[in-house]
Amino acid sequence: MHAHENDTTDVSFDIYERYAHLVEDEDAPREHRTRLRRAEDEPAPRNRGRLTEEERDLLALRRADAVSEAGPLPPTGDRWSTWDEGERGPTPYPEWLVTDLGAVDIELGVLKSGKEADVHLLERTLPDGGRSCLLAAKRYRGSDHRLFHRDAGYLEGRRMRKSREARAIAGRTGFGRNLIAEQWAVAEFTALSRLWQVGAPVPFPVQRVGTEVLLEFVGSPDGTAAPRLAQLRPSAAEARELWRQALDAMTVLARHGYAHGDLSPYNVLVHDGQLVLIDLPQVVDVVANPRGPEFLARDVANLCRWFAGHGVPATDCDPVACVGRLRAELGLN
Ligand SMILES: Nc1ncnc2c1ncn2[C@@H]1O[C@H](COP(=O)(O)OP(=O)(O)OP(=O)(O)O)[C@@H](O)[C@H]1O
Ligand SMILES: [Mg+2]
Repeated sequence: MHAHENDTTDVSFDIYERYAHLVEDEDAPREHRTRLRRAEDEPAPRNRGRLTEEERDLLALRRADAVSEAGPLPPTGDRWSTWDEGERGPTPYPEWLVTDLGAVDIELGVLKSGKEADVHLLERTLPDGGRSCLLAAKRYRGSDHRLFHRDAGYLEGRRMRKSREARAIAGRTGFGRNLIAEQWAVAEFTALSRLWQVGAPVPFPVQRVGTEVLLEFVGSPDGTAAPRLAQLRPSAAEARELWRQALDAMTVLARHGYAHGDLSPYNVLVHDGQLVLIDLPQVVDVVANPRGPEFLARDVANLCRWFAGHGVPATDCDPVACVGRLRAELGLN
C-alpha cells in the first residue's frame, strides 16, 4: 500500500497550478515536446545562480518527468511496468495480474481509436519469459481540438477543485484540455473501482497513471478483443440470456445509485457468453445529477431497442417497465 496513494492527483494539480505560466504548450508538436524533455539530460547550465528559485523548481520538475516518462528504458519491452506509479485498483488483486516491479510493458498495437481516447493492447511480462498478462490501456487525449462530447451535462453536480482549473477547462486551452483528459481518466478509474467492488460486470481497473487507465483485457489470450454487443447476431435464446445479464448489470448499478450514462450496444462487450460493461468515465450519480433520471432512461432505451430487435420479446424488454424497476432500486419511486 502506498502511503500517499490518494494524494497523487492533488499534488500534481498543485504543481501545475504553481507553474502553469511556465508549462510548455501541450498543443506544440509532440517531437518538440519530447526534445524539450530530452534537453534536460544535458548538463545543467553553469550560470545556475541566475536561475530564479521558480525556474530551478521547474527544471527539477521536468527532470522528474523525464525520468518517469522517458527512461531509463528496460533492456526489453517498451517501458518498465508502471505498477509503482499512480493509483492502483481495489484489493485483492486478481491472480492473473502481474505485479512484479521487474516486469516490462510491451505495446502490441491499437485496439481502437475513439473520439476521446485510444485503447491500446499491452502485455505486462517478466523479461525472462515468466508470467505475463494482457492489459487494455485507455489513453485519454490531452490535446485534441475536438470538443469532448461528454463535458456538458455530465459534469453538472461535480465539484471543480479550483476556479483556475475551471477557467482553463472552460477556455479549452492546451493546459485545460490536459486537465479534462486527466479528469476523465480519474473519473473512469474511480467508477470502475467502485463498480468492481460491488460486483458489477466491468473489467478489473488495474491502474491509473496521469491520463492512462490500465484495464483487464477482455478478450482471448491471443489478443483478440471481445466483440461489442453491436457486432453480435445472437440466437433468440442467446439474446434472452444476454438481456438477463444486461438487466442484472443495470440493476447492480442502480442499487448503488448509478447509471452508466453512455450505455449502448457499443459500450458492452461479450466474452465467452458473459456481458461486460465498458467505457464508464461519465458514470452518473442518478440522484445528485439533476439530469440523472434522463440519462438512466436513455441507457435503458438504447439497450431495450437493440434487444427487441434481436429476438427478445418486447414485453420482456419494455423500457417503461425496466426504468420503473431501476427507479425502485434507486429509491426514486
Ligand atoms: N478492457 C478492454 N478489453 C478489450 N477491449 C477493450 C477494453 N476496453 C476497451 N476496449 C475496446 O476499445 C473500444 C473503445 O473503448 P471505450 O468505449 O472505452 O473508449 P471510447 O474512447 O469511448 O471509444 P468510443 O468513442 O468508440 O466509444 C471498445 O469498443 C473495445 O473494442
Ligand atoms: Mg465507447
